[in-house]
Amino acid sequence: MKIAISGKGGVGKTTLCALLARELSNQGKRVLAIDADPNGNLAEALGYEEQEYGRIEPLIEKKALVEERTGAKPGSMGGYFVLNPKVDDLVERFSVEVEGVRLMVTGELKEALGGCYCPENALLRSFLRHLMVERDEWVILDMEAGFEHLTRGTAESVAVLLVVVEPGLRAIRTAEKITALAEQLRIGRVGYIVNKVHSEGQEKRIAEKLGTDAIWATIPFDFQALEADLSGSSPYEQCPEMRETAIGLIAKLHGEFYL
Ligand SMILES: Nc1ncnc2c1ncn2[C@@H]1O[C@H](COP(=O)(O)OP(=O)(O)OP(=O)(O)O)[C@@H](O)[C@H]1O
Ligand SMILES: [Mg+2]
Repeated sequence: MKIAISGKGGVGKTTLCALLARELSNQGKRVLAIDADPNGNLAEALGYEEQEYGRIEPLIEKKALVEERTGAKPGSMGGYFVLNPKVDDLVERFSVEVEGVRLMVTGELKEALGGCYCPENALLRSFLRHLMVERDEWVILDMEAGFEHLTRGTAESVAVLLVVVEPGLRAIRTAEKITALAEQLRIGRVGYIVNKVHSEGQEKRIAEKLGTDAIWATIPFDFQALEADLSGSSPYEQCPEMRETAIGLIAKLHGEFYL
């Protein structure tokens, strides 16, 4: 089951990703969480203590690996390199286990170079394709609002894109743009997660804009989430109500996809 999570900055993508991954692991599922955000902090949200264990080096920063697999130095443009490098051993070699969840930090795709064909991107794109198309487990991808990571072939294997929305027109507009992109890329389904809701009135107004049926979960504003973030601990442990939402959402996923 492959899930991607997107939405405007700061809406709660990483929080949702961590909650789902931890709860799936709690339910005994094999789960792989992917931090594909260049400024990502999924490790922390899962409960990883950087002070204790050290920084996790993103895949794309492993220069020797990029060169070994693609046959070209990172950063080199033009010239020859392997477009489909071997990637099927990378999870086993480089993932970090956090509270029963396997975590991979991929780092930033070099999209600033204009969709560049550079060795790093070849490695990362192949790796994401491997994750989404070939692996037989729960994979949850924490992304930025843009979809640079997903090529069409990869996107088609995403069963559902969960788009996180907070009360506010900007988040709703971003969600609508993301939805249009998802359709172009032929992602199977899109479900909205309305987060940080303060009142029923807010919930209703968002439902009027996005459509009640398209909303897969609603998460109330929770001060404990902020506390968790401040103290660098996991919302899964610190926010029992959010954990309940994750349980409900997983049940919904089971229902929607006959799992
Ligand atoms: N339901 C909630 N109630 C209150 N605060 C929340 C809630 N969900 C998330 N937050 C807080 O909002 C902030 C942003 O959350 P998070 O990092 O998950 O968002 P994000 O979408 O991943 O952000 P970014 O775009 O920077 O990656 C964090 O401080 C988090 O604790
Ligand atoms: Mg994030």
